[in-house]
Amino acid sequence: MKISVAGTGYVGLVTAVCLAERGNNVTCLDIDEEKISQMNKGIAPIFEPGLEELMKKNKDNITYTTDYTKAYSDARIIIIGVGTPEKKDGSANLNFVYEVARQIAQTVENDCVVIVKSTVPVGTNDKVEQIININKKNNVLIEVVSNPEFLSQGTAVNDTLNAARIVLGVESENAENVLKKMYNDFNIPFVVTDRRSAEMIKYAANDFLALKISYINEMANLCEIVGANIDDVATGMGMDPRIGNRFLNAGIGYGGSCFPKDTKALHWLASFNDYELKTVKAAIEVNENQKIKLIKKSRKYYDTFNGLNIAVLGLTFKPGTDDLRDAPSLVNIPLLIEDGAHVKAWDPVGAENFKKLFPDEIYYCDSIQDTLIDADICFIFTEWAEIKNFPLYKYKELMKNPLILDGRNCYSLTEAEEAGLVYESIGRRKVNS
Ligand code: UDX
Repeated sequence: MKISVAGTGYVGLVTAVCLAERGNNVTCLDIDEEKISQMNKGIAPIFEPGLEELMKKNKDNITYTTDYTKAYSDARIIIIGVGTPEKKDGSANLNFVYEVARQIAQTVENDCVVIVKSTVPVGTNDKVEQIININKKNNVLIEVVSNPEFLSQGTAVNDTLNAARIVLGVESENAENVLKKMYNDFNIPFVVTDRRSAEMIKYAANDFLALKISYINEMANLCEIVGANIDDVATGMGMDPRIGNRFLNAGIGYGGSCFPKDTKALHWLASFNDYELKTVKAAIEVNENQKIKLIKKSRKYYDTFNGLNIAVLGLTFKPGTDDLRDAPSLVNIPLLIEDGAHVKAWDPVGAENFKKLFPDEIYYCDSIQDTLIDADICFIFTEWAEIKNFPLYKYKELMKNPLILDGRNCYSLTEAEEAGLVYESIGRRKVNS
């Protein structure tokens, strides 16, 4: 059974490689020739732990091509995993999805099932089916299925191979059977529903997690005001199995390719249908304010950043990825620069991407040590293990004025106290200030 995957970003490529790992023959399609030629050499176009190893291991079962006729004409399953970027009004741009649908319609020569894996607003699968039926060249049966992906960047391979559930939004028994056969060797429970509910599950799940983070961030802000400790509050809350202990880490807000985009898209969809999603709107607003929380804290110490040496540790939206999409660093660093700060930054994998956006405005260091030399303030934006393991006494030795503003609660308060640093984090008391 030939499977083709359109789009070789996080969703498309990881899905393709995991399907190959579970014994399927997969063809990966992308319009970007450079990406395809890299993948043909065994090089992954994205930084994702374990991905390149699996690409190499399964190289005989995966073909990479830019030729959509070759990919689609004899495929029995076609997976759409192309991007759905955010438009200016917050809605999702579906042009790439619809373009793939048109190409499929014009090329397939056999009955096949088209799986929409990209995150798409409710009703998109119906539209994809419509586009296919209008543009179809051959008298074949093309069924459309919603099968959203729940992988997280940095753990995408494991998330796909060992997912908590596989959601199948199907409108026929045949489509359900084809999908179940494709996932036969995954040993993951299925949630079988209609297409619109499957589309909705993806948004409802992502927006709930975003809401959970904004909730804990608001609790953290209140903890600071009333003198409580958010780490202990989160531990106490999370031990209640009805709440669960994950996604209760307070910080400077969520970023990445999904939560910011999916909260805005669902809010937009509700508004479009004359309904206001108040909880999601609140999560979005809390997150925007949370991102600049450290800058607000720093104002107590300095009226202006003009002429100050500022060390920034961590640029990506979370550890384990080189992705900068909606990362708090993208909001904070321009504010520091505009105010006249000299910014030095370190990130183990995200610096190269940051350099493309800010080539000359900041100085990039190869080590945490170099970043801290002579700094007046150190901002921590990402909880990389290298930062968590970096000894606190060294901040004192290296910085001009050891003021640390930690947006990811990387250090224990006792250790910061013992190291004699001025240390502020999120939802916890200030140390030595
Ligand atoms: C997310 C979802 O987890 C995944 O299921 C979906 O398919 C895509 O979006 P991802 O964006 O890769 O995955 O990362 P995730 O680990 O969920 O983190 C997102 C953001 O939330 C990060 O900026 C992270 O720092 C933040 N976060 C996460 C917190 O601030 N606190 C937490 O407790 C957890």
